[in-house]
Amino acid sequence: MKINLPVDIIFGSNLHVEAAAVLADHKFDSVYVLTGAGSARESGLLERLCDELKKQGMTCFDGRLSAGPDSDAVDKLAGEIAASKVDAVLALGGGSVIDAAKSAALQAANGCRFSDIEFNTADLQDAVPVIAAPTVSGSGSEVTPYAVINNSKTGRKSTISHNSLFPETALICPEVFTSVSSIQTIAGSFDALIHCFEAYTSTRSNELANAFAVRGAYLIFDNLKAALSSPEDVGARKALAEASMFGGIAITHARTGAIHTLSAALQKYTQLPHGLLNAALLPAVTELNENHYSGKVKEFMSACGFSVRTDAGGIVKLAGWISQFFPPVDNPFDIPGRDAYSIIERFKEDKGLLEVNPAPLPERTINAFITGIIDA
Ligand SMILES: [Fe+2]
Repeated sequence: MKINLPVDIIFGSNLHVEAAAVLADHKFDSVYVLTGAGSARESGLLERLCDELKKQGMTCFDGRLSAGPDSDAVDKLAGEIAASKVDAVLALGGGSVIDAAKSAALQAANGCRFSDIEFNTADLQDAVPVIAAPTVSGSGSEVTPYAVINNSKTGRKSTISHNSLFPETALICPEVFTSVSSIQTIAGSFDALIHCFEAYTSTRSNELANAFAVRGAYLIFDNLKAALSSPEDVGARKALAEASMFGGIAITHARTGAIHTLSAALQKYTQLPHGLLNAALLPAVTELNENHYSGKVKEFMSACGFSVRTDAGGIVKLAGWISQFFPPVDNPFDIPGRDAYSIIERFKEDKGLLEVNPAPLPERTINAFITGIIDA
């Protein structure tokens, strides 16, 4: 049993002040601040941050993720980071911004394009250090060694993994989440909840990772309603941010499962955001695995305060809880018939899934499973 978490995790307030303090502690003199199209600019947070950094004598480069995170955008960011020769990258945004910053920081250190490292991150120099300050919770990217990037040319949603993709610091300031919309709050919470569920039911899970998974899920079950009914409730927002972090730690040690593998293969065929897509796929994947959970769903849901006696009962409770925020959707996909083969192949490319999925996944099972979803 092992936990490896080389990330300083700081919960604070006044993000711009805390961020400046973190960068000063590291003795960084220059920083590339990456934001997305979201509220960090509109709310004035970016301006306050850059003013604070300049006050402390740091040079601040202003970067913006315009699309994606797709590989063309990330390649451009990597070029800007390398050219500016900064000491660090500060990612100020949701999971897409943090993932883009992590990949671009790794590419900048190695002078390469995303496609050069998409399938092989061995023998790379460590990334330019990244400070991750999420403004939307859910992905857990602030504490993981992963970055999920869409290849602009192939359309493939790819996950890269490298030890230096762990941010130096995760800086989590719950006040910034109070402006997150309801739909983003639900989608992010579902993503984190499913990270916790998939990690707990992974055959690679262990007692330490399970503790994070259960605590993360418990916090979501206990706080999502409050965050939606009172968006300014900093306590509820803090709990969801903690849940996101716990989910990230859990998947770092036990991996995601078939929901995420399927989600990566199907994302380009739907408008649903990642967290809602995962929720939409949960029933099919839990049905696939139902007879192989060995009591883990019962354990997981019981530890979160639900009264359940069997895995099947736990699955019903989980799906029921999700459906109060996001009713089941009938076939949210627009899939051309000719793409069925490539979706099945994309699913099969995730060889690591075979080692962690509760049910065995021989080829005929995968074929029938995915064909069933596409034809539904
Ligand atoms: Fe996810």
